[in-house]
Amino acid sequence: MTGLYIHVPLCEKRCRYCDFYKVTPGEVDSMDLYLQCLEIELRRLPGDFAPDTVFIGGGTPTALSPAEYSRLLESLHRRINLSEVVEFSSEANPGTLTPEKLAVMKAGGVNRVSIGVQSFNPRALQLLGRIHNAKEAIEGYHLLREAGFDNVNIDLIQSIPGMTSDEVLADALKVAELGPEHISFYNLIYEPGTPLTEARDKGLVIPPDEDEEADNYFAVKAVLENAGYGHYETSNFSKGGKECRHNVLYWQGGEYFGCGPSGHSHWHGKRFGNIADLDRYCNRLLKEENPFDEIEFLTKEEKARETLVMWLRLTNGFNLDEFKRVSGFCAYDLCGAGIESMIEEKLLQCVENRLSLTPNALFVSNAVFSALL
Ligand SMILES: C[S@@+](CC[C@H](N)C(=O)[O-])C[C@H]1O[C@@H](n2cnc3c(N)ncnc32)[C@H](O)[C@@H]1O
Ligand code: SF4
Repeated sequence: MTGLYIHVPLCEKRCRYCDFYKVTPGEVDSMDLYLQCLEIELRRLPGDFAPDTVFIGGGTPTALSPAEYSRLLESLHRRINLSEVVEFSSEANPGTLTPEKLAVMKAGGVNRVSIGVQSFNPRALQLLGRIHNAKEAIEGYHLLREAGFDNVNIDLIQSIPGMTSDEVLADALKVAELGPEHISFYNLIYEPGTPLTEARDKGLVIPPDEDEEADNYFAVKAVLENAGYGHYETSNFSKGGKECRHNVLYWQGGEYFGCGPSGHSHWHGKRFGNIADLDRYCNRLLKEENPFDEIEFLTKEEKARETLVMWLRLTNGFNLDEFKRVSGFCAYDLCGAGIESMIEEKLLQCVENRLSLTPNALFVSNAVFSALL
């Protein structure tokens, strides 16, 4: 399995917590040059590249106009062999959706839409600096359904300062009532340099304590599981086999190209990241230069260790024989005594030759992963 990620570096406004690379309409005259350079970058990919999954993310792909989005999709069809694609996702912000834009996406092959809602709570949406309110978010979701999308993800965030446990639960109940095929319920991350992190550092917003976060995490999990969602990754839930195949590909150590400014690729043991600057990205491509800066060569062992940790994000973990077949390494040999001691501490479990996180370790998974690396 291989994947293609396209980064659209445009958002109507910067949310206060987010550090994904983007520009806003006031900072750029038009997205024409980006679209031109993206096509140059697509043309530079290997001629025999035929991805199984495509993910257009950002930023906000739906901040493009219908004509711009259509041009992006045309470039993709012109430059990439899409005949193998089984899942074609686009991210969307509910404040930027129109029936016309959704029709363009559908006609261009998009078959899964991931919509950023974050919360249905008015105070939380305001604190996060979102451009839409809860009613508009719900209307956006219904617009997707009316446009015929039958594979929809809703992104939510928990641990938002000021939200009570009841309010977090109300978000979980509301999303279950809407019934998307997939739900990503992230824990808020304080990214360096964002306005929300600065406000926290000045004591202007107070995050919930860790025990409360953990209680909320397990309460949300229970609500969604009761509503028929499978908890298949630490922050992700799906119904009816609708896991996000593109992300599963990342978690199982698959290979992918990431195009657009700040896009990251992992191809044949080489890892490289495109420059996170729209002007410089375009200048380089116009001169037929590489848009990436760092190239990292991973040894087979480094790649295997990374795959092990990524794969453990999936709640049913991996079969040890399959891991060896895919990575070339025995998981136990890679981590020395690490795995055994974590099994003793009841952070990992090995059942019928499958290694996975224990339910208790789900909330502290990042600490488990850093200890294994
Ligand atoms: C590219 S955005 C989704 C599409 C669109 N830009 C939007 O926000 O509506 C990707 C998702 O990452 C999540 N995200 C971004 N920054 C985050 C942070 N600091 N902590 C937790 N989740 C974050 C949000 O849930 C967001 O919906
Ligand atoms: S969360 Fe989405 S809309 Fe908000 S700044 Fe990040 S990418 Fe843009």
